[in-house]
Formats: sequence, C-alpha cells, structure tokens
Amino acid sequence: MSNQVKIKETIKPFKKKIFVSSDKSISIRCLLLSSIALGKSKIYNLLQSEDVIDTIKALKKVGVNFVSKKNYLEVSGVGINGFKIKKNTTINAGNSGTLARCFLGLCAGSKNKFKMIGDKSLSKRDFLRVIEPLNLFGVKIKSKNNLLPIEVTGTDMLRPINFNENKGSAQVKTCVILSALNTRGITKIKAKKSRNHTEQMLKFLDYPIKVKKNKIYDLIEVEGSHQIKPFKYKVPGDISSASFFIVLTLLSKNSELLIKNININPTRIGILKILKKMNANIKINNKRNYNGELIGDIKVKSTKKFNSINCKSQLNSSAIDEFLLIFLVASKSKGVSIFRNLDELNKKESPRLNVAINFLKMIGIKVSRKNNNIKIFGNPQLILKNTYHVKNFLKDHRVFMMSVVAALTLGGKFWKINDKDAIKTSFPNFLNILKNIGAKIS
Ligand code: S3P
Repeated sequence: MSNQVKIKETIKPFKKKIFVSSDKSISIRCLLLSSIALGKSKIYNLLQSEDVIDTIKALKKVGVNFVSKKNYLEVSGVGINGFKIKKNTTINAGNSGTLARCFLGLCAGSKNKFKMIGDKSLSKRDFLRVIEPLNLFGVKIKSKNNLLPIEVTGTDMLRPINFNENKGSAQVKTCVILSALNTRGITKIKAKKSRNHTEQMLKFLDYPIKVKKNKIYDLIEVEGSHQIKPFKYKVPGDISSASFFIVLTLLSKNSELLIKNININPTRIGILKILKKMNANIKINNKRNYNGELIGDIKVKSTKKFNSINCKSQLNSSAIDEFLLIFLVASKSKGVSIFRNLDELNKKESPRLNVAINFLKMIGIKVSRKNNNIKIFGNPQLILKNTYHVKNFLKDHRVFMMSVVAALTLGGKFWKINDKDAIKTSFPNFLNILKNIGAKIS
C-alpha cells in the first residue's frame, strides 16, 4: 500500500537547523481578512497545504481574486460585505474546521444562500458551537443534527450580540469576530482564553477592536462595518508543526535541533511550558515582534530524564493540538502524569483522546481514564520490541505525524503507519524534513 509508511529503525543522533511549514491558523486568517480588505494585499510565506488551498477555493467562489506572484500571493479584497454569492454555491471546507467555522462568520452578512460541505472527518464535527451565535446575529442555518452539510442564509441586517464563548475555541471566537465585522454596532464577547491571532491581526490593521485581558477570559469588543485596509504579511513558522520535531529531538539520543522563525505567541506555547516543567531541554533565542506576533528560534536538545506532570487545565487551550506529543513524553517520564478536562480533544479531526489512549495502550503504557481526565503511568525504561500497525484514525494528520515520531524514537521491530497523505493538510514537507535529518522511512 503506497499510502503507508514503514519504519524499521530509530533515528541516528543528529545536529541540524531546520525550517518547518508556515503557521496554518495565521495563513487562513491572512486569507480571510485580506479577502474583506478593500484592495490588494500581499501574503508572503503562506502555508502551501490542503487546508489553505481549500480556503482559497472557498474565497474564489464568493468573488475574491488571487494571483500567485514570485514570492507572495496577491489577494484582491472586495471590502466588508463585498462578497458575491451565486445561486447554488457549494463551499467545500475539506478537512478544515478552521476554514468551515470561520468562513461562516465571514459570510454572515451575505444574503444569498449557500451550502457548506466537508470531508468524512469534518462531517462528524460539531457545528452547533457556531450555529448558536450565528443565529443570534440573524443568520439562518439548516442542518441535520448540527453537522455538515448545512445550508446558510446570511442577512445584511445583522444584529450585534453579547456572546459568552466558554469552550476556549478560537474557531468559535473568530467566527463571532468575523460576523461582528459585518454588523453595525458593537459586538461583545466574553471568551475563554484561546489563540488570539485574529484579534492581534485586526489590531495590527488598526481595526476598532478592544481586548481586556483577564486571567481566564478575555473581554472583546468589536465595532462593526469599518473598512479594513489592505496589508502585507509574512507568515511565521507553525509551533504545532515544530512540536513534532521538538519531541523527536527530546526523545532521541545525543541530538540537537534549531528550529527557525517560529510563532511563539503566548496563546500557542502550552507545549513548551508543559515540556519544560517535565525537564525538557528547550530554549528560545532571538525573540522578536512581528505585526503583533512574537517570533523566535527554538533550540532543543535530547533529554535523558523526564518528570511526570500534574497538568493545569488552564494550559489545555494553548497546547490543544499538541497533546498527542505531550502524552508521548509522559509515557517516558518517571511517575504518573495527570491531564484534566480534555473534552475538546475528542472534537478534533479524529476523537484524539480516544485515539491517543488506544495508541498508548498499544505500546504498552498504562492509562486510566475518568470522564475526560486521564492518568498516564510513565515508564522511563520504555523500549519497544514488537511490530505495530497504526490505522483507523480518520486520516488525522497529527495522529499520523505523532506515530512517526514514536516509531523513530521508541524502538520496535517494525512499524506500519497508514494514511501518509494526511500530512498534506498541514505539513506536506514533514517526511522530507525528517529524511533530511537522517530518518529512514520507506
Ligand atoms: C484553530 C483552533 C483550534 C485548533 C485548530 C486551529 C484555529 O481549534 O485545534 O487546529 O486556527 O482557530 P478550536 O478553536 O476548535 O479549539
């Protein structure tokens, strides 16, 4: 089967400098915001992946023009409320929850009906979380069980809302902020902390958005119906993609890696905080600010002994896409690690909490679960001896990449990992970079 990778040996010690793929969340937000800016924007270093291509295709369908230049993408934005939605338009959001949920907010003010569909994984994910606030704005949505496919009818008479976002979901928060841009008046959001790239980008564009930060919640006020000026933006590297290489290095012997130009926005670096508490050798150099986002170079070295962790659930949102990797480190730690309130983890491209528990059990790690809290009984001596086959994970890109990292660091006679194509979603270069630092993968 060509869509399967085979791994027979762990990676040899390496000392390298790498660049990983561009940030997916920021790439998608650049496209969404430049499409409603009035005029031509230039986006450099845009992630080249399926989620991003699907975003461009969706925006083309509502009248936005794109031209690929030598080293940037030119986006001809149509201004607030400038989308043209033709009859019988279907938007295919593919695998991307971010595209699907944010696009609904972006189109809230467009009167013509459209349909939204997605792939098998996205069609299992909850849309009630955005249907509720969109209904309050005045958008009509028809769906079966709050799942895709859905039929959407926006309105040019949107009402500003007061909304309490209590899941810590940046997709929901962004959906509401984007709807608010189309709405006359002030929309107020009390949002449990989550990645804040949308707010940062709007501030960088001098848009009238106010954010009052509290410990657990942010209070956001968005004044609608102002035009957005076109912009230039260079997308930094993705901490979520870098994380596979961080954990690869930590769990390998005598290795060192420098990962350049990574977005280290405080709302994204939960993994670094958690791993450092577990004794990981990680340093950030060359910190700098770019358009409201913090960027740095991450230096990571192999670490021999890891401590277990009693992980505060306030860190969940800032590490939400990295838990599969954190669990892998917990498996090699001394003692029992505890993680709580991981309900959102089961709402991702696959039910990742269930998938992770099955994976850990497959490699001989004891895990206990009570509701959405888990305990991982670490084994610092863990060296695998058997053969392993990773399959049935709804083509979840992060499950595929975590499995490859496990195979390259934990041993095992022979690993087969299905659905290699999943990396196209967020990190098409993943296997090539691994091969360049010495991994043997066929
Ligand atoms: C994302 C937000 C997170 C994250 C996803 C990207 C975003 O999802 O898991 O990979 O770009 O806003 P939730 O907002 O649903 O937690």
